[in-house]
Amino acid sequence: MRRIGVLTSGGDGPGLNPCIRAVTRMALGYGLEVIGIERGYAGLMDGEMIPLNARAVGGIIGRGGTFLGTARAPEFKTPKGQREALRCLNRHGIEGLVVIGGNGSLIGACALHQRGFPVVGVPATIDNDVVGTDIAIGVDTALNTILDAVDKIKDTASSHQRAFLIETMGRDSGYLALMGGIAGGAEMVLIPELETTLEEVAQGLLDAYVRGKAHCIVVAAEGYKPGTQAVAAYLQERREELGFGVRVTVLGHIQRGGSPMAFDRILATRLGAAAVRELHQGNHGHIVGLIGNEIVLTPLEDVLTRRKELDLSLCELSKIMEK
Ligand code: ADP
Ligand code: F6P
Repeated sequence: MRRIGVLTSGGDGPGLNPCIRAVTRMALGYGLEVIGIERGYAGLMDGEMIPLNARAVGGIIGRGGTFLGTARAPEFKTPKGQREALRCLNRHGIEGLVVIGGNGSLIGACALHQRGFPVVGVPATIDNDVVGTDIAIGVDTALNTILDAVDKIKDTASSHQRAFLIETMGRDSGYLALMGGIAGGAEMVLIPELETTLEEVAQGLLDAYVRGKAHCIVVAAEGYKPGTQAVAAYLQERREELGFGVRVTVLGHIQRGGSPMAFDRILATRLGAAAVRELHQGNHGHIVGLIGNEIVLTPLEDVLTRRKELDLSLCELSKIMEK
């Protein structure tokens, strides 16, 4: 193998730049040439490629976002899109590829692998819903952003004796809400993996009020049904009876930005380097992840058949701490 490519795809998050840097410098260490592919699979199909050297990835370890850009590229899901991508890879002499992204991006990587192209996937998504790793790149920094918000909202909530619904990202995953709730000392957590009725939420507010709490912080995942606004409307209607007025804060995309924290910089560096090591050894078709403190390989096919489950014992822990 003489030349490899690297791309970032799907939803971004803190830690993508340090990962591109690690891929580049590890590859250069093996004497490989490195091509950065811009805008994920969109750029791969369109041939948007830039050569990367050690200096090109200098000064980016602390920068949020991804300097290569990212995209959602629906056309890549089609056989035609994948054929164009392979054609581009061949035209540019790229013999191996590192894909950095979430579930969708790794399914895309698996498609290239099944067509015979050497690919290694690196899990990067703040949702932490990718199999084969305890934690994906970006999760830790996003959690710290959530904590900063929860701490600040608690101040104003206590001053006004209010309940706050704080919505985190997680279209299908409650990981950020659950961990943000535990670490932020929330009174309640609402996640898609566990049903909580509107009446149970109201009861939670009432309990907090009766216990003499000055606030009630509810951390809700974006994917919780019937949704944060519906809960807020229900609670607001019953505010006299529940004791707390209600406000909503949707954290949104601030969770995806910001300088990666130490954990994400180190994780991104370890996983990016491991991805290149595997490609260089001719060992491809895997996700490189961190399980315990070990770098572990998981077949890319697993993203098609397995979903990373939330550890529900943490919900129990969260409930005990809510008192
Ligand atoms: P994430 O990687 O953050 O989960 P998406 O789900 O939007 O983000 O996926 C990113 C990109 O990965 C998609 O725009 C598409 O190009 C590619 N992709 C997603 N699903 C598939 C699929 N089933 N087959 C091939 N490529 C896919
Ligand atoms: O990165 C995954 C995710 O954060 C989901 O939790 C969320 O629903 C989605 O991205 C939103 O991304 P976008 O606004 O880029 O479509």
